[in-house]
Amino acid sequence: MAEDLFVTGTDTHVGKTVLSALLVAALNGTYWKPIQTGASEGTDRQQVMRWAELPESRTVPERYCFDPPVSPHLAAEAAGITIEISRICRPSQIPAAPLIIEGAGGVLAPINGSEMMLDLIGKLGAPVVVASRTALGTINHTVLTVRALRGAGVCVKGVVMIGPENLDNERAVERYGAVPVVGRIPMLDRICRRTLLQVFESSFDRRAFS
Ligand SMILES: Nc1ncnc2c1ncn2[C@@H]1O[C@H](COP(=O)(O)OP(=O)(O)O)[C@@H](O)[C@H]1O
Ligand SMILES: [Mg+2]
Repeated sequence: MAEDLFVTGTDTHVGKTVLSALLVAALNGTYWKPIQTGASEGTDRQQVMRWAELPESRTVPERYCFDPPVSPHLAAEAAGITIEISRICRPSQIPAAPLIIEGAGGVLAPINGSEMMLDLIGKLGAPVVVASRTALGTINHTVLTVRALRGAGVCVKGVVMIGPENLDNERAVERYGAVPVVGRIPMLDRICRRTLLQVFESSFDRRAFS
């Protein structure tokens, strides 16, 4: 069975949902976002269903879902609850493997008074793909993210660079992060199943995802 993947990113709005839609389409998998905030503006699960043309049956409902577009720890606090990692378990039955799991924010986004997204990543145990910008600032953000993941004993499969091509930054990420760039997503005029599959064919390292 194809192995699950956890999609994290160097930041919010970096392209995690675009990358998740691409992977779930290309690998014929199932999508799950365990913690969603900002649901008042739509959920990432709905966005992935649109972009990847995925039926709802190939998604797993969120375990925690909050309306305000704020950090999970704040959204939970406002709702009067505490997010508990012990209550977030990989579903035992999924319609199609692999399970593509999308995080919220970056790896050190807090989810309760003492734990961060990184703790959830460690608990779920899937190898991680890091969504990174190609733009200035990415070397620092990406290497920090990779180091935090490895420091917690998490397997980093690789980095996917998103945005206008910047080979110098890409090489620097590989060198200073000691991590492979396993894919590139250019800025797309139209994000849809067809363009996402084309990008996977042309700009992803197929061996990293087989
Ligand atoms: N490769 C891309 N091509 C075009 N637009 C993109 C691309 N990547 C991200 N975007 C834009 O940036 C927004 C944020 O991306 P998203 O995947 O939702 O980020 P995240 O999940 O990390 O918060 C998207 O709604 C989309 O408009
Ligand atoms: Mg997202």
